[in-house]
Amino acid sequence: SAIPHPPHSRTGTGGETHQTADDADIPTLTTQQGTPVADDQNTLRQGADGPALMEDFHFREKIFHFDHERIPERVVHARGYGAHGYFELTDSLVDVCHADIFGNVGEKTPAFVRFSTVAGAKGSSDVVRDVRGFAVKLYTKQGNWDIVGNNIPVFFIQDAIKFPDFVHAAKEEPDRAFPQAQTAHDNFWDFVSLSPEATHMVCWAMSDRAIPRSFRFMEGFGVHTFRLIDAQGRSTYVKFHWKPRQGLQSVVWNEALKINGADPDFHRRDLWNAINAGDYPEWDLGVQLFDDEFADRFPFDILDATKLIPEELVPIRRVGRLVLNRVVDNFFAETEQVAFCTQNIVPGIDFTNDPLLQGRNFSYLDTQTKRLGGPNFTHIPINAPKCPFHNFQQDGHMAMHNPKGRANYEPNSWPQPQGGPRENPRTGYSSFPQEQSGAKTRERSAAFGDHYSQARQFYISQTPVEQTHMKDAFVFELSKVETPAIRMRMLTHLRNVDETLARGVADGLGITTLPDAAVGPLPVRTDLPP
Ligand code: HEM
Repeated sequence: SAIPHPPHSRTGTGGETHQTADDADIPTLTTQQGTPVADDQNTLRQGADGPALMEDFHFREKIFHFDHERIPERVVHARGYGAHGYFELTDSLVDVCHADIFGNVGEKTPAFVRFSTVAGAKGSSDVVRDVRGFAVKLYTKQGNWDIVGNNIPVFFIQDAIKFPDFVHAAKEEPDRAFPQAQTAHDNFWDFVSLSPEATHMVCWAMSDRAIPRSFRFMEGFGVHTFRLIDAQGRSTYVKFHWKPRQGLQSVVWNEALKINGADPDFHRRDLWNAINAGDYPEWDLGVQLFDDEFADRFPFDILDATKLIPEELVPIRRVGRLVLNRVVDNFFAETEQVAFCTQNIVPGIDFTNDPLLQGRNFSYLDTQTKRLGGPNFTHIPINAPKCPFHNFQQDGHMAMHNPKGRANYEPNSWPQPQGGPRENPRTGYSSFPQEQSGAKTRERSAAFGDHYSQARQFYISQTPVEQTHMKDAFVFELSKVETPAIRMRMLTHLRNVDETLARGVADGLGITTLPDAAVGPLPVRTDLPP
């Protein structure tokens, strides 16, 4: 044969040749228990043509492990791609925040980032029309801080209780199990047309932002309003932004369709190639800072995740840069097993009462405990803090580091070192002592009620070409909706966004008479800056 045999090769019973480890340079294959393996090609049999023997522990271990390779994919954001890097502080935030990561200019904090689509399954395509996840894990000296964001600054819903319905409607329909994120379908448009608060985000999703050219050319947003806490315990509201130094670029729809056909892995390949070529993507971390007095002047509630804070009103202060400079060694160990969570937070950062954020804080830990097989997924290296950590959590599946020695509780009276870690009121995390009052209720403040003003601002801030892309996207997606009433209901919302947009979409769908505009709880404001 023209193909040379590898050195130290042996001929198997099937006539094939393969390399063996009878040379000191080649590690010997072992079982998971460390037993050296003599033959990895043939099962143990009773006679050369006989039945396989149960005694073949190597075969059984190998097949058993293979049978268990799959874990549940993420319930959303199943398809993603990650890379390592660092965050470097360029402007101290000590004036408003006592978090260590914002204290020392020039300090580098290790980071892991996972970009994702939202609706598609793990094996779906990259260049679909969808929101992109932009999840950042910062391994700070005070513990892991995750900014679990998207490439769009607002969200479809205001309250986490609607999330399961939204996701059910957005993912494949339960009877037919299609479509994926690629094409519109009745369930999605039914849900968003019945949820007027989704209108703003739907406009972003129909814009070019939802078909990014690559992960490297996307913005990222923390979406919710968070708090920064200074050394005196004072709170400043903050919105987090990632601004790509590569610029912002999208493809157009026809390109997206062709790219997906030719290379469903286009975005992951792009990131892998760029990093391996030394062309490291970078983002500036920007913050928008404001206080209660400023917040009260907005016509909307800053706790409403369907609203953004206009950059004209609160300019972005750039305080650091994120650099991605290393691909993973192993996709499953790192990108699949990484677990981002909005409740992973460090001293100096705090939550607000945003009802979407509060629900997220519950959801991530819960789903990850299932997805990653129990409560010890923080023992997986990608999820473990890189600062010292000590606690008395113990046992459960896959416990890698149970408390050492006698004490597994506190307070205890054992001397050090047996006594183990203790709480620290000085350096430990303390929540901002926000005053709360009011009756227990499911009612929402009226300031959550304006669903259209910012959608309108977004539409009119687009260039004419971008506006045409949006209109075309609505026409394309709604043309896939089989139920006429759903299309009409969507038009009732678009009339509140912009008459030209609504008219253009109706024309594209062959609808001559526009329905009346939806009546929102609050009137559309036209006096806001675009
Ligand atoms: C996953 C962002 C709202 C539940 C993710 C991921 C991102 C993300 C980026 C992927 C994380 C990764 O790469 O591993 C967002 C944003 C939201 C939002 C920006 C709104 C502002 C919600 C809400 C819920 C939720 C309201 C539930 C109440 C989940 C779950 C996962 C997930 C269960 C899967 C996590 C896992 O299996 O590791 N989200 N999400 N998300 N999100 Fe959200």
